[in-house]
Amino acid sequence: MLVGSYYYPEQWPEQNWDRDLKKMASLGFEFTHYGEFAWSAMEPEEGKYNFEWLDKAIALAEKYKLKVVLCTPTPTPPVWLTQKHPDVLMVNADGRTIQHGARQQASWSSKVYREYADKIVTLLAKRYGNNKTVWGWQIDNEPSHYGAYDYSENAQNAFRDWLRNKYKTIQALNAVWGNAFWSQTYSDFKQIRIPNPKELVQQANPHAMLDFKRFSADEAALFVIRQKDVLRKYIPSSQWVTTNLMPTHAAVDPFRMKVLDFQTYTKYLAEGYDMGHGEQGFRMGSASSIGFSNDLFRPINGVSGVMELQPGQVNWGLFNPQTMPGVVRMWIYHVMAGGNKFVCNYRFRQPLSGGEQYHYGIMQTDGVSLSRSGEEYVKVNAELREMRKSYQPGAVVPEVITKRKTAILYNPDNRWEMDYQPQSNQWDFMAHITRYYKALKSIGAPVDVIDESRNFQDYPFLIAPAYQLVDDKLVARWRTYVENGGNLVLSCRSGQKDREAHLWESVFQKPVMDLIGAKDIYFDLLPGNLQAKVQMGSETYNWNNWGDVIEPVNAEIVWARYNDQFYKGKAAVLHRRMGKGSVTYVGPDSDDGKLERDVLTKLFSEVKVPVLNLPDGVLVEWRDGFWYGFNYSSEVQDIPVPAKGKILIGQKSLRPAEVVIWKE
Ligand code: GAL
Repeated sequence: MLVGSYYYPEQWPEQNWDRDLKKMASLGFEFTHYGEFAWSAMEPEEGKYNFEWLDKAIALAEKYKLKVVLCTPTPTPPVWLTQKHPDVLMVNADGRTIQHGARQQASWSSKVYREYADKIVTLLAKRYGNNKTVWGWQIDNEPSHYGAYDYSENAQNAFRDWLRNKYKTIQALNAVWGNAFWSQTYSDFKQIRIPNPKELVQQANPHAMLDFKRFSADEAALFVIRQKDVLRKYIPSSQWVTTNLMPTHAAVDPFRMKVLDFQTYTKYLAEGYDMGHGEQGFRMGSASSIGFSNDLFRPINGVSGVMELQPGQVNWGLFNPQTMPGVVRMWIYHVMAGGNKFVCNYRFRQPLSGGEQYHYGIMQTDGVSLSRSGEEYVKVNAELREMRKSYQPGAVVPEVITKRKTAILYNPDNRWEMDYQPQSNQWDFMAHITRYYKALKSIGAPVDVIDESRNFQDYPFLIAPAYQLVDDKLVARWRTYVENGGNLVLSCRSGQKDREAHLWESVFQKPVMDLIGAKDIYFDLLPGNLQAKVQMGSETYNWNNWGDVIEPVNAEIVWARYNDQFYKGKAAVLHRRMGKGSVTYVGPDSDDGKLERDVLTKLFSEVKVPVLNLPDGVLVEWRDGFWYGFNYSSEVQDIPVPAKGKILIGQKSLRPAEVVIWKE
């Protein structure tokens, strides 16, 4: 894995560049990253280009043997562009046009903007496509509108075209959207506006919302893929093309961008939102944060990269704590354990002006002294050079790992649908899926987050958490998977609706009933202050968010029952053998994830796959011949390094934010 660092030549006096890049290389970094916000430096006036500064910056990188990740500058259109063509600007839900002054203000649906983007990307590709120092390309930067959606006229028109293309006739759209409800019927696609809760006194049509989310994700992907196509016309195959996404940002879908060479993500863990594990967890973030991102992005193209990693204290969080000493180094190893080909620190120098002044860099504000996290990078960079000697990309995967291999099935449609219609203020889809992810990590299972295009049979275990939208074909694939020996786990809400989010005209949850061995299901939702109980074996568990109350076809398949409320004694968890495999259905969604964890442990033990039992915040991973142990918890933890393990880095007993790496 290579380690790099962001640099912004356009933000620093030219006389600093040589000194800074020299320093970067001497600290052990192997690549740098330029240009994603530099459009106005590249084209200060329309048609007047200035690439000389970039030529120099790339030549300096070459001088110090640093490769360059070069970016397209489309997140930041220059002011001359947006003032000349105000209709390239996006419009938010309140109807406000987003103005020049920050970033990501352009509409992906603007034809004019796309043409300007084509032009600048073409020039960059022609100029640097054959530059040996340019390692690869990043398109845009975190393509997203940071949580906002685009309601501009360009987007309205593009949405109408998208709908026309999908439905062909307005009658078909009316049927799918259920427009007879509240007299929403349209007679022409032209009448449709993007569903916007800010324009309505009650909830927007959920089917329209789902289509809008799909459309918006398509627009983002088209914007990125179009740039990839422009680049590919001029650049050699030796240069790769990617973009950098925020891993759990719902609006943009990495699976829609599979045609990129690989996916990269950006990651900040200690920012006041993620409280991690235990009292000091806020300085380290959750063990699942980098892990889930690795396991979501890597399987898409078989390899991934981390384009931005937090360097230490940041400026934009809820509060911005100091990071735990050592944690930046641990994060880097966690990235490596996830199969990433590189990690890039964000950013080399702490900015002295602009919107991110309090954001740490590798260097302190004086530009020449190492920050605390800079020191961690220097240490890691040296260690990695040593580790490369024992790196084994083709290493045989240990049997325990192969046996535990688990896929989590993910489709953003489910998330979009349930985020909009959660049914309960306690329901949180990402928290739900993460509970299963954490449970798997606590037993030492390797996880791939996959979409439906994959072969389920590659995984002995397949978990489809809250897989609400299904069709008969998917359910048939699940059944075949199980009959052929797979162990399928479904959780609450799975199969409630068809792909367009209609309930079935049949018994509730009809398509999965037979598969899970149930006759009837209803669900209960609780107030925030009530923890109801479920009994499994001799253990009692809390649940609070969602509870599917199940009528099984026979009592033998009941693993857990509700222990209170008016449905005390009714089934909560079912498990049945089917063909050569098994199906498990988990009705409750808990806050603490204990039930989910114990159900999975029981399942693995039932099918005789040995598992670990790791404390909260502790992870064990295997990749490319290395075993890794991480401690995200707030206490000292012993990692189960076997006697035959040869420790390369660290020791068995880890303080918070420490890592151990060994070979067996
Ligand atoms: C990222 C973004 C970077 C920078 C960074 C600051 O999300 O892509 O450009 O703003 O945050 O932490």
